[in-house]
Amino acid sequence: MNNELVLRFLAEPTDVNFGGKVHGGAVMKWIDQAGYACAVQWCGGYAVTIYVGGIRFMQPIRIGTLVELRARVIYTGRTSMHIAVDVFSKRPELADYTHNTHCIIVFVAVDADGKPTPVQPYTPATEDGVKLQQYARRLMELREGIEEEMRAFLE
Ligand SMILES: CC(C)(COP(=O)(O)OP(=O)(O)OC[C@H]1O[C@@H](n2cnc3c(N)ncnc32)[C@H](O)[C@@H]1OP(=O)(O)O)[C@@H](O)C(=O)NCCC(=O)NCCS
Repeated sequence: MNNELVLRFLAEPTDVNFGGKVHGGAVMKWIDQAGYACAVQWCGGYAVTIYVGGIRFMQPIRIGTLVELRARVIYTGRTSMHIAVDVFSKRPELADYTHNTHCIIVFVAVDADGKPTPVQPYTPATEDGVKLQQYARRLMELREGIEEEMRAFLE
């Protein structure tokens, strides 16, 4: 499925935070990279991040663990692609992953002039996909209220 993409790598000592685990900023960068690669795979061109939803860090990621980011397009508008990114990690010698982080990130496909350009529509083919599409729609509705609240600070 070209709406899905997986990144897998080891959390390196250079990714450390002041508490000895993986830095939240490193995780945010990985989320953006996975989301970007997933978005451009879908639209077949360039895309930019327009919105990062609430990032929930459920569990810390330890240095030396195998990190897996699972990104998937869950909703498309005319020019936007809503990507769910889930971050998992595990000790490389073990089988089971821990779910560390979840986030929705929105990209807009842009043309050579940086203007939004249409993307192919995404139609979910599974029950899980339909649920995720509904989830993206509900978050969009909630965001309208948040955007309204933030408007004065966006000028
Ligand atoms: C992305 C960008 C080109 C969009 O331009 P724009 O004129 O604001 O876009 P539009 O109003 O035409 O909206 C484009 C899409 O973004 C969506 N959008 C706008 N605001 C949004 C928000 N707050 N959250 C989610 N999507 C949003 C619109 O719904 C539209 O999607 P659709 O076509 O699927 O309906 C422009 O905002 C930009 O360049 N932003 C900076 C991007 C960037 O530098 N990212 C890197 C972060 S450092």
